[in-house]
Parts: sequence; C-alpha cells; structure tokens
Amino acid sequence: MTSQANQDPAFWSAADNSLIRYGGAFVPRIIESAEGVYLHDAEGNKIIDFTSGQMSSILGHGHPEIVNVIIEHAKNLDHLFSGMITRPVIDLASKLTGMMPKGLDKVMFLSTGGESNEAAIRMAKLYTGRYEIVGLTNSWHGVTQAAISATFQPTRKNYGPSAVGSLVLPAPNAYRSPFRKPDGSYDWEAELDYGWNLVDSLSTGNLAAVILEPILSSGGVIVPPPGYLRRMKEHCAKRGALLILDEAQTGMGRTGKMFAFEHEGMVPDILTLSKTLGAGLPLSAVVTSTEIEETVYKRGYSFYTTHISDPLPAAVGSKVVDIVVRDDLPARAHHLGNVFRSFLLDLQKKYPCIGEVRGQGLLVGMEIVKDQKTREADEPLGIALADRMLELGLSANVVRGPGFGACFRMAPSLNITEDQLKEGLEIIAEAFRTTPGVKTVE
Ligand SMILES: Cc1ncc(COP(=O)(O)O)c(C=O)c1O
Repeated sequence: MTSQANQDPAFWSAADNSLIRYGGAFVPRIIESAEGVYLHDAEGNKIIDFTSGQMSSILGHGHPEIVNVIIEHAKNLDHLFSGMITRPVIDLASKLTGMMPKGLDKVMFLSTGGESNEAAIRMAKLYTGRYEIVGLTNSWHGVTQAAISATFQPTRKNYGPSAVGSLVLPAPNAYRSPFRKPDGSYDWEAELDYGWNLVDSLSTGNLAAVILEPILSSGGVIVPPPGYLRRMKEHCAKRGALLILDEAQTGMGRTGKMFAFEHEGMVPDILTLSKTLGAGLPLSAVVTSTEIEETVYKRGYSFYTTHISDPLPAAVGSKVVDIVVRDDLPARAHHLGNVFRSFLLDLQKKYPCIGEVRGQGLLVGMEIVKDQKTREADEPLGIALADRMLELGLSANVVRGPGFGACFRMAPSLNITEDQLKEGLEIIAEAFRTTPGVKTVE
C-alpha cells in the first residue's frame, strides 16, 4: 500500500478505457472494502459513509446477519423461474403487509426503485383506464421510461419526448417557494391549489395518478409541510386518480417511523419501497389494496421480470425487517436525527453559508448559500466542502446539478452508534473550519 495508491495509473486507465460514464466524474478513490459505517480506500484511509452507499445500506455494510442469509440462499435457494413463489417471498409479504394499515394488503417484489415505480404506474393506468401521471418538480423516481417521465430533474433533457400525459406540480419547498403569506411564512396551500389549477387546465380528463416522495430526497431533502400528503390524497380522490408514494429512501425506519406516510396518518393507494428494503441489495416492492390488486388482475395486469419474486433478495428483505423491528431502528433514527440536526444548527450560528438545515429522522439536508437573505445557492462552495470532507474521511453527498442548490443529503446507516455519528459530525465541523472561502459570522 503506497500513499499514492488511490491514483493507481493502471486502475484509472483501465477505467478510462473500459467504462461507460453514466453520471459525471467518478469519485477519485479506489474503495477496497466496506464494513459497518466505514469504507476503506486503497491508501488505507477510513471514510465514514454518511450516505449509506446510494442511500440504501440502512444496516451498514456487511451486516453479519445479512451476510449469513446471503450465503445460505446463494447455496440453497437463489433465483428461480419467475412464476414460482417460495417461502422467503411469502414471509416478507406477510411481514410487510402485517405492519401496514388496511389498504396496503398485497405486495409484489422486484429489484430496483425505478422498476417498482414503473410497475406502480402501470397498475394505476390499468386500474383507472387513464394515462396521465403527475410528478413533482425536483423529484426522482428512476431512469426507466415511466419513472423518468415523472422525474423532474435536468436528466430529463436530451432524450426526446417523455411519456404522453406527463404533468407536474411544484415541489413544496418552504425555503425557496415564492408563495408567501403576508407574514412571510410559506403558503403551501395556495401553491398547491395554483399547481392543481395548471394541471387541471392541461389535463385531458385522464388523470391516472400522482406519484411523489414523502420527502423529496434527490431534490434536496424537501420535507413537505404537515397535512400536505393528506391534502394531496384528497386532490387525487376528487379527480378519481390514485396516489402513489415512493418510499425508496424514506421507508424502513429512516425518518423515525417505519414508513414516512405514518407521520401523516394517511394511506397511499400504492406504495413503492426499494433502496432501504434490501439494505443495499437490489430489492423493491409495490404494495396496494386488495381491491386494486383484484381489479387489475382481472384486467390482465402484466409486469413479468427476470428477478420478480426472487428468493434470495426476499430472504434478505425479510431479515432487514426483523432487524429494523428488533433493534427499534425507527426510534434510533428519530433520536440520532435530532442529534445530527442540532449539531448542524449550532454550526449554522457560526457559518452563514449554511442556509438551512432540514430533514426528518436520519435523512438530513443542509443547504449551502452565498447569502442567507437572498438564499442564492453556492454550488462551488458546497462542492469544495464535500471534497474537504472526503479528504478528512467523510463521504457526504451533495446534489451538484444546477438549479438544486448545493444541498448536502446525508443519511447514515440507522445502526450507526452515537460515537460514530459524532466522529462524522466533527469532520463536518473541521471542513467548515478549514475550507477556503467559508466565512464566519462577524
Ligand atoms: C425516491 C426514489 N425513487 C426511485 C429511485 C430509483 O431507484 P433505482 O435507482 O433503484 O431505480 C430513487 C433513486 O435514487 C429514489 O431516490
């Protein structure tokens, strides 16, 4: 191991020669191993993973109980003909629907988040006999056709038309919305009504569904105001459309409840789970009511994939559920999320470039701005801070796309210890102390 090992010319030239680049530059580190909340690079540096990989590994990396399930199932029951169902699938289906309210009674298991949203949207179209799908600005639902058509990010550009009938509502961004009451507070109801007026005037009368994340994570950890999801469901019901909630990132305890919709006391018509359900393995789910399932079944619902109902990932999901429940990880997420945010709020008193700290449970957003009054995003500074954190041993995500502000999206594993969390927070503080261009309050 040398101090230059991350620069290994053979590795990077092989990467240059052989890999398709799918989303900007690669992180200039060679990660050799991952254990718990730590990644280890080729130079022996320890890096705390504050994004749970791609916002998925809620149990950290290489959790021994998950490893055992993988080994056992790789040996004995891995992948089958898609029409065969197995005990792990029934186990996971019973556990999940058993912990959900009535109306989320039936489930199917796929691999990725995009796929689960694709399946949910097809279901909504078949159920309603309509085709218009409403997404929110700043959303992210995946890169397959229906999912990306409901995803309003710059990645939408340059690939020709999205699905016919793709409509949009404004994300409920309390920090940036121009909709204000006379006292300056956010007027989300006026904004939502305004958005629906536009949707109604665009609609051909074929609204099938609204799809949204209970917290818009990729869009910058935008937490809708209390009552928003309930109101959205009312808007949908009034128009005979379904509400699909995408809990790819918020599901399985991340926000302080098992599922984020529980904070709102409402039940979506269709729920999708992914990322956190497999805790890092490709596993996703679509959950809906008996009535919707029966109706679409009778109409010939088809969503047949190679890895649907695969026993190995289902067994992993089943163990994830057991661990999240046994170790009461939603309560941990709630407690550690408060520790996390109050640390950042203290930093904000010192560093005016921290525009806002927000989030719920262990899904935390921190927006970097040029000026607290104008709230203009400071993307170069956000990137410089993220780079400095990595140098110091912390991987913390930042949305780099123009128009989204320099918002850190942080989501450590739910079983991180308080000491490990504080170790990461100290690195954030050190990055603010030592990144050129960061000003302190005068
Ligand atoms: C809320 C949400 N839904 C869906 C997806 C897409 O999941 P996948 O990349 O597994 O297709 C993502 C990915 O970031 C996401 O954040």
